[in-house]
Order: sequence, then structure tokens, then C-alpha cells
Amino acid sequence: MDLDLNYQPKLPRDKSKKIAIVGAGEIVREAHLPAYKMAGFHVVGITDSVQLRAEQLAERYAIPKVYQSVEDLVADTDVEIVDIAVGASSQPSIVESVVAAGKHVLCQKPLGETYAMAKHIVNMCSAVGVKAAVNQQMRWAPGIAATRTIVERGWLGQLTQATIQVNVHTAFEHWPFLRQIDTLEVMYHSIHYMDAIRYLLGTPEYIYADGARYPGQVSHGETRTMIHMKFPGELRALIHDNHNNWADESDWYATFRFEGTDGIVKGTNGALYNYPQGQEDTLSFLSKELHPDFWFRPILKGKWFPHAFMGTMGELMRAVEENREPSNSVADNLKTLQMVFAAYLSMDENRPVWLSEIQ
Ligand SMILES: NC(=O)c1ccc[n+]([C@@H]2O[C@H](COP(=O)([O-])OP(=O)(O)OC[C@H]3O[C@@H](n4cnc5c(N)ncnc54)[C@H](O)[C@@H]3O)[C@@H](O)[C@H]2O)c1
Repeated sequence: MDLDLNYQPKLPRDKSKKIAIVGAGEIVREAHLPAYKMAGFHVVGITDSVQLRAEQLAERYAIPKVYQSVEDLVADTDVEIVDIAVGASSQPSIVESVVAAGKHVLCQKPLGETYAMAKHIVNMCSAVGVKAAVNQQMRWAPGIAATRTIVERGWLGQLTQATIQVNVHTAFEHWPFLRQIDTLEVMYHSIHYMDAIRYLLGTPEYIYADGARYPGQVSHGETRTMIHMKFPGELRALIHDNHNNWADESDWYATFRFEGTDGIVKGTNGALYNYPQGQEDTLSFLSKELHPDFWFRPILKGKWFPHAFMGTMGELMRAVEENREPSNSVADNLKTLQMVFAAYLSMDENRPVWLSEIQ
């Protein structure tokens, strides 16, 4: 019996492809660059509209070039892959100039603030034939990646339900660009859970969602959500998120559970514990096929942040190497965005929304 859950991100054979980064903010500092260092990826340059931020990260991570602008970055013929890490509203114009120069691109999530914007990005990328992926990295979080292996081996039997539950405190107001937007929790957080659920269960038929605010909250958008997903047949999933837990961290939880006719996987999403350091994911599973009454408890190494960022960039690099579409392609991400926008339409109209309604 092979109990190796094969969950570590797969890296390309050739790690020397030259990467340049647009944006030198928190996520690049705390996740992209630490992950790329672990993976041995080759970052040759960085730019930010606040030049000092790019200079500081260049110094910290020994990045040879700081570009004055996105135009300078794109004009550098050395650069093969551009990694975008700025807010979604700036993304289309950056993608346009990157792909016009024939460079491959890793877009940031959310791919677009509207479905039309995301489709526009997909069309621009496919028109020039570059490889284009999205940094929707939870698929490579250890707990989710290990669960994928368990599902693929058939150890859960026929899948019946999935539950992702989060009850923590997240200071969304800490990010200025998140304060004013009307679509907050699903667009910027639960989008990851939707993508992970879709990765494991397939794409749902419809979504029924509710979003709420918390008394006195600073941000405009919803910070509590309940999202019900119906799949063909009897399969169902639920995301239940509260980012306003006022109790101390000992009360916080971030759990997942995937169930089938022959097995159960349950675990914790370690990145949301012991904030901001996080901790390793945990996972245990029971499968009638392996043993009738024994819970396996493999020790997982790594976290959603930053380790899973090796997975998104690694998959794009492997797709370039193997001349195929990346599994996290921009086109694939449209289905995750259909889930996001279906959830918002559902909240607005208080009804189940079929994904086919989002076009
Ligand atoms: N994949 C994930 O899990 C994940 C996690 C956190 C944030 N994000 C996304 O990453 C993006 C950035 O988030 P952050 O937390 O780093 O924000 P941030 O505000 O800390 O950093 C953004 C940086 O981009 C720079 N910038 C903005 N527009 C620019 C432009 N047109 N050209 C060059 N530089 C520009 C800003 O000066 C800033 O330094 C957001 O879209 C966010 O949704 C993704």
C-alpha cells in the first residue's frame, strides 16, 4: 500500500527561466519571494510604482535589477516570465503589455474584479499563445494537495460532501485597497476555498450564498459568508466563514472535511493559526479500503503561505517546459470566478444562481 501522499509542489526540471515581478507589496515580500528562494527560482528583476519598495526587496533578496516602470520591465529581453502581484484593477493593462512582448505570465488572484475583465485577460493571452496562469495557490497547500491524492486513489469512494469552516479574526482594513470595495470576503478570501473545492470535487451546478457585515466594521464589503454549492447528483459543499472572531486565538479554527461513501478526510489549514507565522497543516483520514477503523495521521510539511506559491509558479514553468496548458491556467480560473460572481448574484437576489448564468 502506497501511503506517500505526494503533496509537495512539483518543480520544473529547468529552474533557470528568468522571472520579473510587478509589485513589491506584502504578498511578494511574505510569500512569492520566500517561496521562490526555497524552490531555487531565478528572479532577475522587480518594479513597483513606489520605487523604494522595489529597491528594498531587491536588496533583501539579491534581485539584480529594479525597473523604473512596467514598460522598462517588459522591454527587458532577458525576462521570460512576468509575475504580477498588484490589485486586480491594474492587472489588464499590465497583462496587455506583457503578452504583447511574448512573455509568459502568472496573474494575481482575483483575475478580474468583473467576469468581463477576467475574460478579456483570457482572450488577450490566448490571442498571442503565451502560457498564462493564476496565482490561485491553495491547490498546492499541503492539506488540499494531499486530499487530492487520496481522492484520486479512490480512498473516499463516491464523494458526498465537503465542508470548509473558518472562524478567525482578519483585519481586512489593514489593506487600504480592501477597505472601499463592496465585494470583500468571497472575492479576496473564500475564492481560494472555492478553487480548492472545485479542484477536488469538480465544478458545481449552482451556488446559494449569503454575506453579512459585522457591527461597526471598517471595511465596506461582507466579512461573514455562508456558501452552499450543489453539484450534479448528491454531492454538496459548504463554506462557512467568519472573520470577526473577537475571542483570543485559542478559539480560532480553520478546518476542512471531505467525505465519501468509503472514507473521510479532515484537517486544519495551518496558515490561519498562530498568525502571522502560521503552522503546518494537519490531516487525518479514514478509508474502508485501507483499514475499517484506523485513522491515518500523516505529518504534513509546509503551509499554504508561502510554500504553495512554489506550486503556482512551478506549474506555469512546467507548462512552458512541456509546452502544454498549466492546470491553473487563466481559462481554468474563469470557472472559479463564475463561482465567485454566482455567489454575489445569489446574495443580491437571495436565490440559487446557476454558474451558466455568469457569462
Ligand atoms: N494569492 C494570494 O493568496 C494572495 C494573497 C494576498 C494578496 N494577493 C493579491 O496580491 C495583490 C497585492 O496584494 P498585497 O497584499 O501585496 O498588496 P500591497 O498593497 O501590500 O502591495 C501592492 C503593491 O503593488 C504596487 N502597485 C500597485 N499598482 C501598481 C502598478 N500598476 N504598477 C506597479 N506597482 C503597482 C503598490 O505600490 C504596492 O507596493 C492583490 O491583488 C491581492 O489580492 C494574493
